[in-house]
Amino acid sequence: MCGIVGMIGNTGAKEVLLKGLEKLEYRGYDSAGLALMHENVNVHKEVGRIAALREIIPAEVDGTIGIGHTRWATHGVPSVPNAHPHQSTTGRFTLVHNGVIENDEIIKKTLDVPFLSETDTEVIVQLMEKHFVELGDVEAAFRKTLSDLHGSYAIAMIDSEDKERLYIGKNKSPLLVGLGDGTFNVVASDAMAMLQVTDQYLELHDGEIVILTRESATIKTLDGDVLERAPYTAEIDASDIEKGTYAHYMLKEMDEQPAVIRNIIQHYQNENGDIELAEGVRELVSEADRVYIVACGTSYHAGLVGKQLIERVAGVPTEVHVASEFGYNMPLLTEKPLFLFISQSGETADSRAVLVEVKKLGHKALTLTNVAGSTLSREANETMLLHAGPEIAVASTKAYTAQIAVLAILAYDIARANGKKLPFDLMQELALVATTMDSIMAQKEIFEELADKFLKESRNAFFLGRGLDSYVGLEGALKLKEISYIQAEGYPGGELKHGPIALIEDGTPVITLVSQPNTHLNIRGNIKEVVARGAIACTISMEGMEHENDAFVLPRVEPLLTPLVTVLPLQLISYYAALARDCDVDKPRNLAKSVTVE
Ligand code: M6R
Repeated sequence: MCGIVGMIGNTGAKEVLLKGLEKLEYRGYDSAGLALMHENVNVHKEVGRIAALREIIPAEVDGTIGIGHTRWATHGVPSVPNAHPHQSTTGRFTLVHNGVIENDEIIKKTLDVPFLSETDTEVIVQLMEKHFVELGDVEAAFRKTLSDLHGSYAIAMIDSEDKERLYIGKNKSPLLVGLGDGTFNVVASDAMAMLQVTDQYLELHDGEIVILTRESATIKTLDGDVLERAPYTAEIDASDIEKGTYAHYMLKEMDEQPAVIRNIIQHYQNENGDIELAEGVRELVSEADRVYIVACGTSYHAGLVGKQLIERVAGVPTEVHVASEFGYNMPLLTEKPLFLFISQSGETADSRAVLVEVKKLGHKALTLTNVAGSTLSREANETMLLHAGPEIAVASTKAYTAQIAVLAILAYDIARANGKKLPFDLMQELALVATTMDSIMAQKEIFEELADKFLKESRNAFFLGRGLDSYVGLEGALKLKEISYIQAEGYPGGELKHGPIALIEDGTPVITLVSQPNTHLNIRGNIKEVVARGAIACTISMEGMEHENDAFVLPRVEPLLTPLVTVLPLQLISYYAALARDCDVDKPRNLAKSVTVE
């Protein structure tokens, strides 16, 4: 959460930094700020989006050194005083920060200066000035300051007395250095922000600082030891991060799902058409006596489907845990557990905290992520990539279907390693799924009408299903609530009469999935129960299980893979409901794409 950019060069940094912040807006967008240094340091901050910040910066203001920030509030409301950058009392140091400092209150008591904001970040910059006064050396004071902090931080700092250096520090929050052509260097929370000027990046590890000049990037430990590291090329196609002709990233990303499935098939099969995983992944999975899936939000919902796939196809017991609960409520572990982290961004702090914990216990971890080189990827033993291309809309769509497809491939590989009979030709069925997705996406107007009819004026909604359909219902409810602000709940159909049915009244929309051959008659009974109490039913069924008044009938796919197609109508209905209610689809209130604080 929060996005950081920085630049040190010879020409105007303002436009590069503003464009970079626009690319990072998905990380938080309640307020933003920029500090630009030419002769002096100029700080501009505004509540709201980057567009609002642009408006208030006078055309003539620019600088060759600058740092910028887009915020997702943790300490204090979104306001100009709480927006970053923050400055020390004398104005000597200016910094931006992403993360949460846990001992900020303790440090604050040791600082005899007035505070202008409610943020933990201002504590850092004031501590920096205190240490500088004591030590007389900026770099030493910077290292000492960071050593005093407990918690997570990605920091970029300007010293108003030094036009030759930017100071960078990182611990548990993502930050990368982008290498320029010898006349400039940049820093950003995510390579996407700086693809406009470079595709060469230096990975930074926790507890490292960087002294950035126009010509060099010197990585050091907090003790001052210099570290050597080779840069890598960010393999992101700049066009992948543009919206193109689409009204929203979410719509573009939903439309990309068939292509993502085809991409996954290509990446995980060899020339004979057989599933082929990296040797390391094979070893990890063949050793495991139980799989513990750890994830958050949409990735957790994909994990619920993954459990069914791994248990039913490979016969390996699998548990699914919400990351933020796992650390405080660890289940009994088997002798050879395999931890499977599912995370689109690979940066989610709750999941990362669990990874750190299980590594301390000596367990092995595999990460499924969309972002190569992300923290969860680097720190796990092995990674399986989703190959979904950058996902920018806060509401996750193509990452969910990619996660399920990769989990199916993993389940097949575990099954094969364990000598199990494979139930169907997975790659062939995935290809069929992609074609089915194409046909659903070609009928968007149907879902627009359904959203209009069922959800436009609604206060709440229910998503029902049984088995895999109930897991997809949870995802449908999450999608709807996060972008349209309609109170939405997902329930297994049979559970309704144990309490939630009390909420059904005249006109309550109930969206039900009917795709599971073993329970389709039971769920039809549940639909009757809610309709008898006044609910309006929107039923999405699968060929062979359809009824006359169903709202949409999906082409038939392999029952174990139905979540890959049943979720599409729910994503589309949520999207169109949000549009009909005039909501900001790509940037819903209070949320951020990458949740890098616990
Ligand atoms: O990057 P991750 O997959 O670890 O993110 C986990 C959740 O924060 C994320 O899936 C969230 O629930 C989405 N906004 C849902 O659309």
